[in-house]
Parts: sequence; structure tokens; C-alpha cells
Amino acid sequence: MRTFNYDIMDSIKERWSPRAFKSTPVKEEDLRALVEAAGYAPSCFNEQPWRFVLFHEAGQVTRLKSYLATANREWNQEVPAYVLFLYHKQFQHKGKDNRWAAFDTGTAWGYFSLEAHRRGLVTHAMAGFSRSALAEALAIPDNLELIALVAVGEYGDPSKLPEAYRLREQPGTRRSLEESLLKGELPQSRL
Ligand SMILES: Cc1cc2nc3c(=O)[nH]c(=O)nc-3n(C[C@H](O)[C@H](O)[C@H](O)COP(=O)(O)O)c2cc1C
Repeated sequence: MRTFNYDIMDSIKERWSPRAFKSTPVKEEDLRALVEAAGYAPSCFNEQPWRFVLFHEAGQVTRLKSYLATANREWNQEVPAYVLFLYHKQFQHKGKDNRWAAFDTGTAWGYFSLEAHRRGLVTHAMAGFSRSALAEALAIPDNLELIALVAVGEYGDPSKLPEAYRLREQPGTRRSLEESLLKGELPQSRL
């Protein structure tokens, strides 16, 4: 059970990462709207280091699933669409490493997931896929990092999930606020 100390946005309280998806296709317009929301994340120097690759045509989606880690493949069978999140490792104008690109792209994922929730869609980010094989298949150059693959769709029927996943099919909980929050000092025992 999730518990909240404060009155925060409903979509933050309600968003979670389910594994039961419907196979119903996601409208391209919805996917584009999620990407627009993601792109309004703030970024260092407004660099917008992120790039997004949509996969929503049946053939592409099936091919993409072959790059998933085995454990993810087990629950991804019905997933109808994906967005691959990438970022440029260097600032485009200076050519220097952009240390904040992952931070900024993570913010974009947050916006993406909240707008999906607002539209009645569910999302599930994944690190479990073969990044090098997918980068090669899509001919993605070395200066771009494949950071996460995000499943997008409508919430499905959890009773169809393999048992191990069915039992875990509930919103993730969090450690208490006090455990994460340090006030102006960093006692080693708390890190
Ligand atoms: C970058 C990232 C990578 C993740 N990778 C996976 C993954 O490969 N497989 C999976 O089942 N869940 C994955 N997750 C989902 C997390 O386990 C989930 O967000 C976390 O347990 C919190 O649950 P909640 O989103 O329901 O609050 C990932 C989440 C993020 C943000």
C-alpha cells in the first residue's frame, strides 16, 4: 500500500508500472502527445538531449520484443507499443560531455509517464533489453545512449500474467520520506 504524508498531485499518487497490458493498439496521436509532454521537461542549457523512437506497427513491435531480457519478455507479450528513450552524450553546440543528459532525460520520462496516466494509458520503463544489439540493429551512432525502453498501452487483465508477475501486480511502494530526506548534513550512517 502506498501512503502519502502530503497532498501531492493525483497523477503522481496514482501512476505505477503494471505488467498487464491490453494488446489494443495505441493511437499514434497519443504517443506523439506523450513525446510532446516529455519534451517540455527542463534541461541543462535547454539542450533537450533526448530523442524518442516510436514502435507501434505490429511488425516493428514484434521485432523489438526479441531484444528484451528473458524476464521482461515473459510479461511483454501483449504490449502494443514502445518508446525508446535515447540521449545525446555531448552538448551539440560545444561538443563537450553533457553530464546532465541522463538527469534531463529522466525528467522527460517522468513527464511522459504522467501525461500517459492522464490519458488513461499505462507505462512501464525497462532497462532489461540488449542495448548493444538494439543499437546495432537501429544503426544508432555511439554518441547516443539508449537509456530505457518504455512499454505503453492500456491496462490489461492481470489474471493472464504468469503467476510470479501476477502476485507482484500492484503499485510499487516507497521507503519513508524521512529515510530519503537529509537536512543540510550528510551523516555517513544515512547515505
Ligand atoms: C530506468 C528504469 C528501468 C526499469 N527496468 C525494468 C525492467 O527491466 N523490468 C521491469 O519489470 N521493471 C523495470 N522497471 C520498473 C521498476 O521496477 C518500477 O518502476 C519500480 O519498481 C517502482 O514501481 P512503480 O513504478 O509501480 O512505482 C524499471 C524502471 C525504471 C525507471
